[in-house]
Amino acid sequence: METKLREGIHWVGYVDWNVRDFHGYKTARGSTYNAYLVQDEKNAIIDSVKGPYANKLLGNIQGHVALTDIDYLVVNHAEPDHSGSVPAVMAACPNAVLVCDAKCKDALRLHYDTTGWNFQIVKTGDSISLGRRTLTFLETPMVHWPESMFTYVPEEKLLFSMDAFGQHLATASRFDDTEDMTIVMQEAKTYYANIVMLYGRSIRQTLDAASGLDIDMIAPSHGVIWRKNIPTILEAYDRWTQHRPEKKVLVVFDTMWKATEMMADAIMEGVLEERVNARLLNVHSSHITELATEMLDCAGVAVGSPTLNMSLMPQVACVLTYWKGLKPQHKVGFAFGSYGWSKNGGAADVEKYLKEMKVELTSPALYVKYVPTEDDLAQCREAGRTLAQAALSNHAKLWQE
Ligand code: FEO
Repeated sequence: METKLREGIHWVGYVDWNVRDFHGYKTARGSTYNAYLVQDEKNAIIDSVKGPYANKLLGNIQGHVALTDIDYLVVNHAEPDHSGSVPAVMAACPNAVLVCDAKCKDALRLHYDTTGWNFQIVKTGDSISLGRRTLTFLETPMVHWPESMFTYVPEEKLLFSMDAFGQHLATASRFDDTEDMTIVMQEAKTYYANIVMLYGRSIRQTLDAASGLDIDMIAPSHGVIWRKNIPTILEAYDRWTQHRPEKKVLVVFDTMWKATEMMADAIMEGVLEERVNARLLNVHSSHITELATEMLDCAGVAVGSPTLNMSLMPQVACVLTYWKGLKPQHKVGFAFGSYGWSKNGGAADVEKYLKEMKVELTSPALYVKYVPTEDDLAQCREAGRTLAQAALSNHAKLWQE
């Protein structure tokens, strides 16, 4: 496997082929925890790997250099998928100084016993010379923890970008130009939607701050390293951070006895009559990870739930709670659902969520008592057409700004 980024700069991380859950995120294609070794007059490790794989990391480092010759361990991010092996590295590398920002030191102290660790605290603009090469630091708060930081090697035009531009994607090769870019970009989008959508504004500020850097390789802490398709991933982040959608409508629903599903089908028919791309997704068929990814770039959304116990269906509540936390923006949409003897809950609760998410309502919530009539379904189709038209207007507006 090719692990060399540059002469003397190597990937030394771990490919986690079989991980399928990342704190609730369904990692269907596994993941990697990327760590890097920069060899020079002084040697630096950039980030570590998840705790159980510490020995793999140490073994990979030893393939290039003795552990006693490690001078620095740079910790760009304290989340345990990257810092979990820091205690093992600090124990195995007696001469290593741990380099991080002040917030990261606090976070590490609250995760691990840091007694005896030699810290060097850095801030934006600071640099450390390794000899022929330099590590310079850029604090990137809330991308996506408060202590996050980029490390840049100007002599190599190489950015270690931590979680930014990452993908949960296990692959046999380490570089973008040796992998299927359709899959890489799908996983980059899934990663953005589920991990960092909420922090779009911080990412935007970081991209602006980093725009002056001369970069021809981006090495994130998950997934492939970008060396050929940097413009593609930067353009995608530009689009995602500005919440610029596709001409796409999402119809998401749960159902008890098919009434709400009939409504969803009719809404979908109305949407498609307007020749808009659309997805019809039952919350039991699509994981919340996929639903967040679909939500990222849709322009309009209709969400349906029957009333259950004067409330909404639990899996719809799960999806809406997840979406609300991720804060997708600038959507249009409406709620719908069937009920038996009370309109409380169901579509009414869905509409409350949509309002809290600042979704611009294209129709009042659509209700059907028990089973939809032909008139009810015609009304659903009409609401679908209205949603599709509003989504197209929304798309046009967001791409003009
Ligand atoms: Fe990959 Fe925020 O940790």
